[in-house]
Amino acid sequence: MGGNKIKEGTNIPAHIAIIMDGNGRWAKKRLMPRSFGHRQGMERMVGLMEHAFDVGVSYVTVYALSTENLKRPKEELEGLYNLIRKHFTEYMGRVCARGVRLRVIGDISLLPEDVQEVLRDSEAKTACYEGKGINIALCYGGRAEIVRAANLAIERGEAVTEESFDSLMYTGGQPDPDLIIRTGKEVRLSNFLLWQAAYAELYFSDKMFPEFSDRDLDKAIVWFSGRTRRFGKTDEQL
Ligand code: IPE
Ligand code: IPE
Ligand code: MG
Repeated sequence: MGGNKIKEGTNIPAHIAIIMDGNGRWAKKRLMPRSFGHRQGMERMVGLMEHAFDVGVSYVTVYALSTENLKRPKEELEGLYNLIRKHFTEYMGRVCARGVRLRVIGDISLLPEDVQEVLRDSEAKTACYEGKGINIALCYGGRAEIVRAANLAIERGEAVTEESFDSLMYTGGQPDPDLIIRTGKEVRLSNFLLWQAAYAELYFSDKMFPEFSDRDLDKAIVWFSGRTRRFGKTDEQL
């Protein structure tokens, strides 16, 4: 392969977010059920997380299930819940052994009780870690997250600033994503991190998520490193 390996001096994003799309199409192309795509997708997710921390990323957020995805057929959702039941604890244990704190972001009260328990147990095991983090977005919607923060602010009864409002997001206290990657050929955000994405660099890959390799992640990071982030200023001001 070569060519895309991360060289010294590369600007590594502190926070990478990934919209893991294309599991279903990847499986269909192989005449396999969608659940097979989700299984492969979960394996790939773990591999990419490990690789991201190994190259020096501090936060990884992955979009695993949107609020809107809850409208999918019951069998597909049950298949996803079974993956969590069977593999989540072991897989997250493996990644978080690097001193990574796990947070599940989204309205998990919409999930079966026993699945919620698996998620909460994994979160609790990592609560002692600081500085590195994984956010798994499950039953997550960007608009729902903003509305939730607005309601929390109303409960407090104080006017908000951008900073105080940010602290009410699920990702409060973390840097905003520097790089958002979407696999699966679509060029849209699908309600992901709408507040946090304000100045993220957006990278779209034609690869389906199960085939998005560690080298592909390196390639995205190298691309990111070549961007000029002006945050509204001119080149001369930077
Ligand atoms: C993304 O893959 C994973 C989830 C939304 C759970 P999809 O399931 O959307 O795969 P495609 O887009 O149908 O190929
Ligand atoms: C976005 O993928 C959500 C996740 C990857 C979890 P979708 O497959 O649900 O997005 P749309 O429906 O094509 O916009
Ligand atoms: Mg999709």
